[in-house]
Amino acid sequence: MAVSIKSAREIALMRESCRILSEVHERLGEEIRPGISTWDINAFGEKLIRSYGCVPNFLNYNGYPAAICVSVNDEVVHGIPKKERILREGDIVSLDAGLIYKGYHSDAARTHPVGKISREAAKLIEVTKRSFFAGIRYARAGCHLFDISNAIDAYASRFGYGVVRDLVGHGIGTHLHEDPQIPNFRQWRRGIRLQAGMTLAIEPMINMGTWKVSWLDDDWTVVTRDGRCSAHYENTVLITSGEPEILTLPRT
Ligand code: MF3
Ligand code: CO
Repeated sequence: MAVSIKSAREIALMRESCRILSEVHERLGEEIRPGISTWDINAFGEKLIRSYGCVPNFLNYNGYPAAICVSVNDEVVHGIPKKERILREGDIVSLDAGLIYKGYHSDAARTHPVGKISREAAKLIEVTKRSFFAGIRYARAGCHLFDISNAIDAYASRFGYGVVRDLVGHGIGTHLHEDPQIPNFRQWRRGIRLQAGMTLAIEPMINMGTWKVSWLDDDWTVVTRDGRCSAHYENTVLITSGEPEILTLPRT
């Protein structure tokens, strides 16, 4: 499938879809505290998405059973919300959420501390976020796709962290997952040339230890093989001829 270039009309719809999602994430972040279940986080998020007249795009996607992916500690991504999974002080929790507004998808993830967390965990969250910003320095027309991948990997690797290889970012628009695939780890080719009007979900998943992951028996939850923590940070980004527009962050 060719990489789609969004028209001005489509970009306006993507902006609105992503603006709503950034509000959803702000409100979800305020719910995070010791004692809340991952199920309650999902229920709150799904209701919120629907309150904007939008549809959660993850729900039933390839059979995924919830609106929000809630991944705790060694869970990398795609954690399934459960009533009996209660957040505890010191945990870190990644929330991955997306929605459809007038046919246009948005996708973003944040990792939050639960109460007071260790210095090591706080650093992992911060470096993961910073690796995204290191990557998007190359998210502009004229750069090549894998410039982004290489910058993310170079940044996170400096800290001795493992950059997940089994899952990648992606184009996004009228579908949640469009071409191109966007690895977060070092590539030896340059990848496609970026063009204004591409919309990309860039999403580093960074592990404190090994980059290697496994799947739990639920066939969804991705966990680190060494049991150490993982963090996830994702935004939907618009490529322009200048600075990229980070569509899923609140406008300042
Ligand atoms: N951000 C994730 C992704 O791009 C969200 C999809 S999770 C799923 O793959 F549940 F929808 F599969
Ligand atoms: Co995504």
